[in-house]
Amino acid sequence: MTKITPQPGIMEIALYKSGEAVIAGKSETLKLSANESPYGASDKAKAAFARSAATLHRYPGTDHADLRAAIAEVHGLDPARVICGVGSDEVLQFVAQAYAGAGDEVIHTEHGFAMYPILAHAVGATPVCVAERDRVVDVDAILSACTARTRIVFIANPGNPTGTILPEAELARLAEGLPESAILVLDGAYTEFADGYDGGVALVEARENVIMTRTFSKAYGLGGLRIGWGYAQGAMIEVLNRIRQPFNLSPTQLATAEAAMRDQEWLTKVVSDTARNRAWLTEALRETGVEVDESHANFVLARFGSEDEAAACDAALRADGIIVRRVGGYGFPNGLRITVGEESACRRVAHVIGLFKGVR
Ligand SMILES: Cc1ncc(COP(=O)(O)O)c(C=O)c1O
Repeated sequence: MTKITPQPGIMEIALYKSGEAVIAGKSETLKLSANESPYGASDKAKAAFARSAATLHRYPGTDHADLRAAIAEVHGLDPARVICGVGSDEVLQFVAQAYAGAGDEVIHTEHGFAMYPILAHAVGATPVCVAERDRVVDVDAILSACTARTRIVFIANPGNPTGTILPEAELARLAEGLPESAILVLDGAYTEFADGYDGGVALVEARENVIMTRTFSKAYGLGGLRIGWGYAQGAMIEVLNRIRQPFNLSPTQLATAEAAMRDQEWLTKVVSDTARNRAWLTEALRETGVEVDESHANFVLARFGSEDEAAACDAALRADGIIVRRVGGYGFPNGLRITVGEESACRRVAHVIGLFKGVR
């Protein structure tokens, strides 16, 4: 028997499944399975990316000062309390690594992002799954699930794959009600798409047990480059920086993200086009008899009458070259999560689903 064994929890991890990217036998596909921006990155970000080729032999700075300054300027934050990571995933990982371990509990919700239990297991902690109420995070259920061992509560707001959002008053009630030893992580991967929501800045400013995370992967169209950030009070950021690798972000990531952040004109256009197409797609799907909640993200969750119907609709979409996301693993065996693409993509999706439902 081998004496080489992984740390407790590691073998409990079910590997993360990303959105499919290909359909066997089809060369032209419309990928709406990973909540990527159909608009790509801004030209200014792409230019910064290209310029960075000249400095590939250089190590990056370790303090991310210019990127943090850009993020702070745009959002009105204290740059000293911004931390940057390899996607927001890495910032979430810093939190798990720094604050949870064997014997601790990490709360996530029924339809929450699949990385949360993975991060808990990876540090030897126990993930605790809490039910949602009608596809919305249930603050009372989370508070009831808290114990003296609770260290972290992960909430995606807006949620993925639900697209629903908790109002700030509810977030505040949650943060206030947690045990003293627990941190609330407000995962804001889709914040830009949620009109009027800033990811929870006021709560971070007011409370030492809250961290918000954000990403360049969605609205900024930089999923392939892997850059995210977090914002919390100084004491927590100081802890997280201790476990951050000094060179976690390359000069290319830093320069591209900074240019993307400074191009808010591009971002505004992406967000408003997405909102318009999202509203159209939501209505079009509802007209075919598919159930869709109001989404505050760049995707919609289409709910069918049964798992079989969702599978058959998925097959119909795939036959047309359209890849969406099955979300049985997120507690929606009867659901398909569909990224909001450009207008033509939304029309194509609605057309195929309309035909499938026999209403076109
Ligand atoms: C809710 C949520 N959080 C975090 C992430 C991680 O994004 P990234 O690591 O690309 O910033 C995603 C990506 O799909 C997500 O959906």
